[in-house]
Amino acid sequence: MKIINVVGARPNLIKMAPITAALAKHPGFTQVLVHTGQHYDERMSRLLFQQLGLPRPEIDLDVGSASHGVQTGRIMTAFEEVCQRERPDLVIVVGDVNSTMACAITAKKLGIQVAHVEAGLRSGDLSMPEEVNRLCTDVLCEYLFTTDRFANANLRREGVSEERIHFVGNVMIDTLVRHRAAAQKLDLVPRLGLEEARFATLTLHRPANVDDPNVLLGILEALQKISIELPIVFPIHPRTRKMVEQFGYSSFFTTGEKARGIWLAEPFGYLEFLHLNMHARMVLTDSGGLQEETTVLGIPCITLRSNTERPITCEEGTNRLVGNDKERIIEAARNVLDGSRSAAGRVPEKWDGKAAERIVQVLQHSFSPASGFIGVM
Ligand code: UD1
Repeated sequence: MKIINVVGARPNLIKMAPITAALAKHPGFTQVLVHTGQHYDERMSRLLFQQLGLPRPEIDLDVGSASHGVQTGRIMTAFEEVCQRERPDLVIVVGDVNSTMACAITAKKLGIQVAHVEAGLRSGDLSMPEEVNRLCTDVLCEYLFTTDRFANANLRREGVSEERIHFVGNVMIDTLVRHRAAAQKLDLVPRLGLEEARFATLTLHRPANVDDPNVLLGILEALQKISIELPIVFPIHPRTRKMVEQFGYSSFFTTGEKARGIWLAEPFGYLEFLHLNMHARMVLTDSGGLQEETTVLGIPCITLRSNTERPITCEEGTNRLVGNDKERIIEAARNVLDGSRSAAGRVPEKWDGKAAERIVQVLQHSFSPASGFIGVM
C-alpha cells in the first residue's frame, strides 16, 4: 500500500513524526513524505525534522507564504502533479492548516482515498481559517482519526457514518511521550537565568490576536504587568514579529542572554520548548497544540481565545479560556500565582503515546484500495 504523508506547517511535523515511525515498523506500507513548504524558515521547519527523527521529505512543493487563496491554489496545483506521478493508494493529512485542506481536496478529486488525523475538532468559529480547513477536510475523508469524544460527537452530529470515525487518541501526545525524558535533561532553564516554576512561556500568532493594533496592544499591556512578577519567555512566530515591527511595539520586549520581562526569542526547537513548558509556572498561548500538551504535563494553561476546538483540555485538563481582554488575562495569571486556581486535571482517554500505532492497525485491518484513480480530467 502506497501512502503519501503531507506536512506543511510546524505543528504538522510534530503530528506526522509518530505516524511515519509507526508505518515504517510494518511491512506492506510504502511512504512518500511531501512537504508543501507552507513553513520554510530553518527554525519553523528543518530544525524540527532533525529533532523529531522525521525522514527528509522526498518531495518539497516549496509554496512559501501568500494569501489564503494563492497559497491554497499553489499547493493544489503542485500536489496534483505529485499525485498523478506517484499514484498513491492513500493520502494522510494532519491538523487544520491550509496544506491539510488543499491536499485533501486535490487527492479526493483524483479518486484517491484520504485519511485525516485530528478530525472532528470544531471551534464553531468560522472566522478562523482553521475552522474552514477542518470542515472542508473532514467532509471528504474516508478515514477520520479522532483525538477525543467531543470530536466523535461533532462528526456524528454532522451525519458522518460510524465506519468512517476511528477514535485513536492524540498523535501530538505520542511525540511528547517519546521525547519527554530527553527534554527533561536539557539545562535551558538555568542557562537563561530562570528558576524552576518561576517563569511563564508564551506563544501568540492567531490573526485575531496579532493583526489588530489595539487588540495586540491590550494583550502586550497585560503581559507586561504579569512579567513584573514572572518573566515571560516568548519565542516569537514570524507572523507576530512582522506585526510587532509594523505597529512599533518592539519596546515591550527584552532581549539578551538572560530572560527577564517579556523576553523575545527565536522559535525554539521541539525539545527546548517542551523543556521550558515542563518547568514553567504557567503557559499563555493562543495555539491549539499547547492546550493539549499542558494538559498532559499538568501545567496551568491560559488560552488567549474565547473559544476552543479542544474543549476536553478545559473539561478534563488544565486549560482555561480567557479571550484577549487585558484585565481578564491579568486576573487569570493572578489566580494561578496566588494558588486560587489549581492545575489538577487528568489525562484524556487514549492520550497515551499509542495513537499512531492505532492508526496503523486501523489501516491494516480495514483498508481496501479505491475502485479507480481518476487521473487527468
Ligand atoms: C499557520 C496555520 C495555523 C497554525 C500555524 C502554526 C493556516 C491557515 N494557519 O499559521 O493554523 O497554527 O501555522 O505555526 O494554515 N512566515 C515566515 N516564515 C515561515 C512561515 C511563515 O516568515 O516559515 C510568515 C510569513 O510572513 C507568512 C506568515 O508568517 O505570511 C503567516 O504564515 P502562514 O503559514 O500563512 O500562517 P501561520 O500564521 O504560520
